[in-house]
Amino acid sequence: MARRRQIYEGKAKILYEGPEPGTLIQYFKDDATAFNAQKKGTINGKGVLNNRISEHIFTLLGNIGIPTHFIRRLNMREQLIRQVEIVPIEVVVRNVVAGSLAKKLGIEEGTQLPRTIIEYYYKDDALGDPLVTDEHILCFGWASQEELHDMADMAIRVNDFMSGLFAGIGIRLVDFKLEFGRIWDNDYSRIILADEISPDGCRLWDMVSGEKLDKDRFRRDLGGEVEAYQEVARRLGLLPEG
Ligand code: C5P
Repeated sequence: MARRRQIYEGKAKILYEGPEPGTLIQYFKDDATAFNAQKKGTINGKGVLNNRISEHIFTLLGNIGIPTHFIRRLNMREQLIRQVEIVPIEVVVRNVVAGSLAKKLGIEEGTQLPRTIIEYYYKDDALGDPLVTDEHILCFGWASQEELHDMADMAIRVNDFMSGLFAGIGIRLVDFKLEFGRIWDNDYSRIILADEISPDGCRLWDMVSGEKLDKDRFRRDLGGEVEAYQEVARRLGLLPEG
């Protein structure tokens, strides 16, 4: 079989040239990193689970009218996606205090926020993805006012939908990260949801026990990473009951 051209290799995924112009193949690795890649490891089977979980969530989001880069899953570790120009901003949505917010403000993890918070981080590994405001984003031209509005609007819709989806299976959606991309059509562009949605980029706590079912198990050396990801997939109906 002819080798496909690799377009990009990230920490948890590889992008290959797709079969048609304007498409890419997104391959999910088992590699895990944390703290801006200072901590590295492997979670056996993570790529397969994240591919399925992300496929499921992107399909549901597509069904409620959120435009995404997802086209279809190809096999255990790969999905066909639309090629986009990635907006260099990570959009973080928070419902509950955890992680960097707890640390930064000295507020106890698990504190329910009176309203949802949206934060923006500039995607730059060398700088450690610094927190930025909309003023920085507009000033440096990382996104336009309209794009920022579209991203925030979609982030809130994704949060509303996913909070309900996870609540229905006994999971509290604490926070999560989204990435967006631009699709060009002649001189016009529009913003669509890109990257992945999986326990790698979400905090998911069991509603009864408070158990963490996400990448914090790896970040905090709690163990049981694969079991946690499997539990999320199982509750979403993607694995046989067991
Ligand atoms: O670390 P922090 O508390 O800021 O993370 C907020 C949320 O964004 C978490 O769900 C985390 O998994 C996700 N995140 C991510 N990639 C990053 C930073 C944060 O997926 N580079």
